[in-house]
Amino acid sequence: MIDEVILARLVDAARAARLQAYAPYSHFAVGAAVLDEFGRVHAGANVENAAYPEGLCAEACAIGHMVLAGGRRIDAVAVVGAGAEPCTPCGGCRQKLREFGADDLPVVVADPTGVRARHTLGELLPASFGPSHLEGAP
Ligand code: THU
Repeated sequence: MIDEVILARLVDAARAARLQAYAPYSHFAVGAAVLDEFGRVHAGANVENAAYPEGLCAEACAIGHMVLAGGRRIDAVAVVGAGAEPCTPCGGCRQKLREFGADDLPVVVADPTGVRARHTLGELLPASFGPSHLEGAP
């Protein structure tokens, strides 16, 4: 179980990161923050591109920061967006989180004013394919 104070810190970091989003095309700013195995917080924001499919999601940006800092496990993640519906991670980001997180990984979804939803990665990406599936392959 991740401490609620730490989860609140994670949401704050994602909210601050969202303010740095580069989203001139969708105008939909997203911030994310991941907690690594050392208790460190790594944040990211979406970075769009004029060649639309080349845009980067906030979660991918946060994961990149974590890996560069030496983190190899995600113990919690927060995502912040401002739409009418809670900004749950997109399908691609669910798989990216799966690389470093377990089924019980807490995924906290918030907007600029407060927490909107809580899930586990296993709920968002059931029966997922992960690193262990590659073990023992010929
Ligand atoms: N976006 C994220 O950054 N994370 C998600 O999980 C959902 C979508 C971004 C991608 C794009 O820049 C914008 O939100 C609109 O889809």
